[in-house]
Formats: sequence, C-alpha cells, structure tokens
Amino acid sequence: MGRRWGKTVLGGAISLATAANGGSVAWIVPTYKNGRALWRFAENVVAPLRKAKLATVNKAERTIEFVGGGVFGIHSADNEDSVRGESFDLVILDEAARISETAWTDAIQPTLADLDGDAILISTPRGRNWFWQEYQRGISDGVYQKSWTAPSSANPNKRIQNAAQRAKEHANELTYRQEWLGEFVDAEGLIFRRVQDAVFGEMLDAPEKGKQYSASVDVAASVDFTVVTVWDDAAKKAVYIDRFNRVDFPVLEDRLAAVYKRWNLHSMIIESNSIGQPVIDHLGARGLHIIPFTTTSASKQKIIQGLQAGFENGEIGIPDYPILIGELLSFEGKRNASGTFAYSAPSGMHDDTVMSLAIGWDSLNSAGVILWMD
Ligand SMILES: Nc1ncnc2c1ncn2[C@@H]1O[C@H](COP(=O)(O)OP(=O)(O)OP(=O)(O)O)[C@@H](O)[C@H]1O
Ligand SMILES: [Mg+2]
Repeated sequence: MGRRWGKTVLGGAISLATAANGGSVAWIVPTYKNGRALWRFAENVVAPLRKAKLATVNKAERTIEFVGGGVFGIHSADNEDSVRGESFDLVILDEAARISETAWTDAIQPTLADLDGDAILISTPRGRNWFWQEYQRGISDGVYQKSWTAPSSANPNKRIQNAAQRAKEHANELTYRQEWLGEFVDAEGLIFRRVQDAVFGEMLDAPEKGKQYSASVDVAASVDFTVVTVWDDAAKKAVYIDRFNRVDFPVLEDRLAAVYKRWNLHSMIIESNSIGQPVIDHLGARGLHIIPFTTTSASKQKIIQGLQAGFENGEIGIPDYPILIGELLSFEGKRNASGTFAYSAPSGMHDDTVMSLAIGWDSLNSAGVILWMD
C-alpha cells in the first residue's frame, strides 16, 4: 500500500476487535517510536471501555487487557526478546518491509505456532526484499496467504489525494511509484525488465476470428504447477494462461486437450523432461500436433535470454496476470564460474509461468515457424 492509505488505522481496528473478543494480539513495529501513532489511536478507541472498566490500559508497557481475557500489546522488532516466549492469535507487522527478515522468521513466526495464529503484514514496499517475496507468495497462493495492494490516492481524504497528485508532479518517479503507488520498484538484479510495459490488458477467454493460435506447456513435477500459455502467433502475444497443480495425469491430459480444442490450436509445444514425455505421447496418439521441447541448462539459458530480449525490445505482449508478472519480476540469475547463467525462482517460489512463456516465445521466434495466412 502507498503512504497514508490507511494501513495503520485498518490494522489497528482489526487488532483491537480481535483483542476485545478474547484474542491475544501483538502489534509489531520496526522500532519503539514507530508505535506512537497506533498507541494514540488505540487509547482513543478503548477510552469508553476503560471508563466502563471493561479494559485496563498500561501506558508504560503499551498493553491493553480486556475483561474477556484478550490482550493487545505493542512490540518493537529491534528488541526481539520482547516477543520471544509469547504466543499470539494474531500478529500485525506494521511497516513490515522495514523489519528484518530474521526477526520475522526466527522471532515472530514461532509465536503463532501454539495457537495456530494469523499474521497480517502491512507496509509500503521497500525494494524486493523478504516482504516482496511474502507478497508474491500471497499472490500465487491466494488461499492460505493472500496479498492486496492499493495506492495512497485510494484514501477518501481529499487532502491525501491532493498530496498524492502533488507527489506525482514533483517527486522523482521511483519515489512516487514506491511511496504513493505502493509498487515494488527496485530494479537492481532484475532479469526481466520493462515487464509492465509488455502488459496489453486482460486475458482473452476465447479465440478471435481469423487468428492463428499455438500453445506452450511446462508440465509440473508433483508440487509445481503445470502452465499452459496460449499465443496469438502473428501479434506475438500470450493471450491466455491456464495454471493448475495436483491433478492426475489423465486429468492433466484432458485439460491440455480441452485448451487445444477450445483455441483451435495448430500446435502445442510441451516440455519433454521425464514427466512430460508420456503426456506428449498420449496427446500425440489422440491426433494433436505436439512438439517436444527438451530443457537442458544450455537450452534454458537460450530461451530465457531470448525472452529477456523480447521484453527489452518491447516485442512481446503478456496479459495482466499477477502470478506471471510476479514470477517474472522475482526470477533470478546466477553467473557460474564458467561464465554461464543458472536461472531459477528464489527458493520457495515458482517459475512455471516463466518457463511456459519462455518455451513458447522461443518457438515463436525460431526459424521454420509456419506462418498461416487466410
Ligand atoms: N477508512 C478511512 N476513511 C477515512 N479516513 C481514513 C480511513 N482510514 C484511515 N484514514 C485516515 O487516513 C490517514 C492515514 O491513515 P494511516 O495512518 O492509517 O495511514 P498509513 O497507511 O498507516 O500511513 P503511513 O504510510 O504514514 O504509515 C489518517 O488521517 C487516518 O485517520
Ligand atoms: Mg502507518
């Protein structure tokens, strides 16, 4: 979220409601003084309860105890001992991107284990650090972990909207995008740049008349995702993406065959490694035109660098699909001693949509592609 969107007020309302209903809640800020604004807000909100003797406020400790047994307390992440040994139903990290990753993983996360508690991480972005990774996980998971974003201008307060407008005119572009639009803008180390520029709009859900489509597929090993990318060949645009996991192979094959039929594809290129090969054989036997693609470290380097150029030169079009955009932006490359690159998603994250895209982009640009004309 952008600055002044209302993050602290929203988080404060959720945490006080949880504590008033008997939950134990920790509000965690980067440093002690960051807790001031919320503490003032909390004192005001509970003032009537305090008068009615339904809540006890301890200013020195910055804790509020409710008669139902709920507790609300403000802790600072630079003093990790203040949460060690505790257990909570809810922790809220305010300005999470400014809290260290180890405070989050080593000190804070274990406090949720006993009560199977929830965590809400709210922040203005700060480059592509651990908070960005959690944000991406929320986008690709969407069930156990969810992510949202909003610009400062979504605050209904006219003065804040005006300030956002002024910042757009006067602040430097990166500052404006990070602080007011709430974008993750750190461009250093990015493999794929100009990703946002390549977005043409919403995914299509059906073929358009007179156009020729092909598809590229990255088949998943157990926990990964199988991703099908459908291409408008002439426009060089990925127009549709289907992504799914944990299905049996007959179901997976039916699903690919259904995409083939629905889009009236002229060919489907499928990654052939281990698990892909039987899928290729079965779909081929059904009469579909299937082209195998073999991934090796050399072929992977080639297709990733081809895709890189596609973005760099503004040739490729992609749909507004947050999972793909997230995987593209978090994709990493490490140079080996031999000078070659090893590409992958950061640990614990996926790159299946990137691989499906790269395989298709490569085939679209390879010599020998048949151009269909009506
Ligand atoms: N739902 C709302 N409707 C109207 N005003 C709101 C709402 N939520 C918050 N505000 C007001 O918007 C301002 C910013 O709120 P808040 O401090 O929660 O934002 P923030 O996103 O935490 O800001 P910062 O980035 O500075 O930490 C405050 O004046 C607050 O009272
Ligand atoms: Mg705030």
